Amino acid sequence: MNTELLRADCPAKINLALRILGRREDGYHELQTLYQAIDLWDRLDLRPSRGLSLTCNDPRLPTDGSNLVLRAAELLCRRHGRPGCGAEFRLEKAIPVQGGLGGGSSNAAGALMLCARSWELELKHEELLELATELGSDVPFFLRGGRALGSGRGERLAPWPPGELHLLLGFPPFGIATREVYHRLASRLTPHRNDVSVPLLSAHKWPQENDFGFMANDLEAVVFDGWPELESFRDALRTAGARKALLSGSGSAVYGIFDGPDEVERALDGLRRCFARWQLCPSRTIDGGIRLHVVGAASEDHRAPGA
Ligand code: C5P
Repeated sequence: MNTELLRADCPAKINLALRILGRREDGYHELQTLYQAIDLWDRLDLRPSRGLSLTCNDPRLPTDGSNLVLRAAELLCRRHGRPGCGAEFRLEKAIPVQGGLGGGSSNAAGALMLCARSWELELKHEELLELATELGSDVPFFLRGGRALGSGRGERLAPWPPGELHLLLGFPPFGIATREVYHRLASRLTPHRNDVSVPLLSAHKWPQENDFGFMANDLEAVVFDGWPELESFRDALRTAGARKALLSGSGSAVYGIFDGPDEVERALDGLRRCFARWQLCPSRTIDGGIRLHVVGAASEDHRAPGA
């Protein structure tokens, strides 16, 4: 067993496009999405320990076995672990909860990678992918991050050429549960709607030609109906100079793409006045996903038995 103190920087994501192709027999929705990792991070620390435990700076988050961090560690331990596997996790949240930014999924991917390293499991990427898929539709994306086309539930990934984008993210003072949004959507879907195909998205030259035309989120209509303030914010981003503004995933975060950091700053000034209760956050796209670091050596009493 490894005795290092390890850290995973876990990025958020946005969806540059999210097209719903239909409802599946297992209750999930068949979709096609363009994931993009962004410069907004949670920090997950692992200290070797005898059992599994989690503490978090955000008191609203559960720290029991329902948290994806512990579910990820338990799953890995059950499938690939050996006696003595344990981890004491500390999670520092910066990614808003229920924001459609994949924070929980990113934490789960971080926990898998931390534990695999701490427990010296030498897993193949495919083995991690399989566990990530069991944990949630967005979890596999965070293992590699960057920009990727997701299909199926979102778990089947194909890399996509990167490109830098300057972003302004807005979070209203409430989150939205993904399950609730899909539930509302299900009642509206026509049975064989299939208006977007892999070749269609893949054919786009974006962003080289600054063609934001393909960017659409099929969840916007249902979310904007339920939470109209989000639509007002999307429109305000456009008025403030965004080349494109879109709901991320199932919300509640809404983002705009701007020509550069100066344009983002200018938009911030105006938006702060009109959306005083919103949290506004400049950001940008990044390459890669979870970043692992060694941050120190654990003291003797934290070592797992047999370490
Ligand atoms: O996969 P994950 O657990 O993150 O999904 C959360 C919820 O979102 C699911 O329970 C389901 O209701 C909905 N969902 C869906 N189709 C997808 C992804 C998520 O219906 N492709």
